[in-house]
Amino acid sequence: MEKAFLVYKNGELVFLGDKTEYKLSQLTKNYQGPVFFYNLDFVRARVQQMQSALKDVRLFYALKANSHPDVLKVFKDNNVGVDVVSGGEIQHAIKNGFRYQQLVYSGVGKTRKELELAIQNDIHQINVESIPELQRIGEMSKTLGKKANVVFRINPDISIQSHPYIATGLKDNKFGIDTGQLLDVIEMAKRFSSSLSVRGISLHLGSQMLEFSSLKDSLAKLKPLFLKLRSEFPECHRFDFGGGLGIHYEKQDLESEGKLLKNYSEVVFSELTTLTYDIPGLEIQSEPGRWLVGHCGVLISQVQYVKKTPHKEFIVLDSGMNHLIRPSLYEAYHSIHSLKKSSESTKKYDVVGPICESADFFGKDRDLPEVKQDDFIVVSDCGAYAATMSSDYNLQDRALETSSARL
Ligand SMILES: Cc1ncc(COP(=O)(O)O)c(C=O)c1O
Repeated sequence: MEKAFLVYKNGELVFLGDKTEYKLSQLTKNYQGPVFFYNLDFVRARVQQMQSALKDVRLFYALKANSHPDVLKVFKDNNVGVDVVSGGEIQHAIKNGFRYQQLVYSGVGKTRKELELAIQNDIHQINVESIPELQRIGEMSKTLGKKANVVFRINPDISIQSHPYIATGLKDNKFGIDTGQLLDVIEMAKRFSSSLSVRGISLHLGSQMLEFSSLKDSLAKLKPLFLKLRSEFPECHRFDFGGGLGIHYEKQDLESEGKLLKNYSEVVFSELTTLTYDIPGLEIQSEPGRWLVGHCGVLISQVQYVKKTPHKEFIVLDSGMNHLIRPSLYEAYHSIHSLKKSSESTKKYDVVGPICESADFFGKDRDLPEVKQDDFIVVSDCGAYAATMSSDYNLQDRALETSSARL
């Protein structure tokens, strides 16, 4: 799967798999409502591609991107751990066959109940995001008679070129520990030396990165901090550089995304290789989400009305921001197709949902072949941050989710 993955064959949209082609019209038989479909061949190919580009890096898939059990199974089968951000995600990962020792636990608002679950079960790593969180973990571990594995997530105060809502590495963002607070953190960790094991340092600059100079600068900035931590805590041997590798939403170009991955790995290794020489047993970790699953999913929904006004023509679907909020929240672009292509000529439509908000749209002024009531529309690149961010706003039903394993 190097080039196009969603193509028309005999006037019908098919999703290419490894050896199979998945006809998306299969998913509209006995149609009950909008459905997310995940192509697992695609996920498998991406995992293997990333594992070979980031050789010797231990991967922890960011489960928040897509938590469907069939998708998780691909990661489990390929020996990938998971990055979780809540008690719910921890339990979901365990239910789907992962062990606590395969989980990295991030997030700024970990509650006592959530931490108890993590600490009691000797989770692989808790990414600590603040001084009061460290204190809570230290005190709780002591009470529970445990030694928690902690890693300090550092906020490097470096921006990335992405939407401001998905950038996380600036000092104004709530994420990570300010570099100026590292000495206080060290002091506190020493006070709790019987109940905390300081395993390393972590970073997550944000999502949808298509350029890596900020990552390079951040890794360079974190290296001396990591060495400082190591000098204080001999068990400190992990460097986790987070997730954030982006994908192209405007075009289907897997070849150029392969190059993106190559540039990304070159930046990582150019910064971290020196550490691997100096520190035997150094563990390098990453928490990718979007790059692995973003393209694997589509959202199929049905046209309820074609509404013409003197100004516009709207396609009103039975799916909207309640199922896919990215266009409303980030003005994110998703390409939109009709399931069947009857002609080459197109018309301009605003593609909107049923929700009572003007922000409820998938695309504006999109060129599509003429569409009729009851036709099906396919929104592409819905594998990441789509179903997991959906809601039942307006008390609409959630979309169904299924995968190529079930066809
Ligand atoms: C801590 C952490 N790690 C990893 C990720 C995954 O990011 P992405 O899906 O952009 O790779 C996220 C996503 O927001 C995150 O918050």
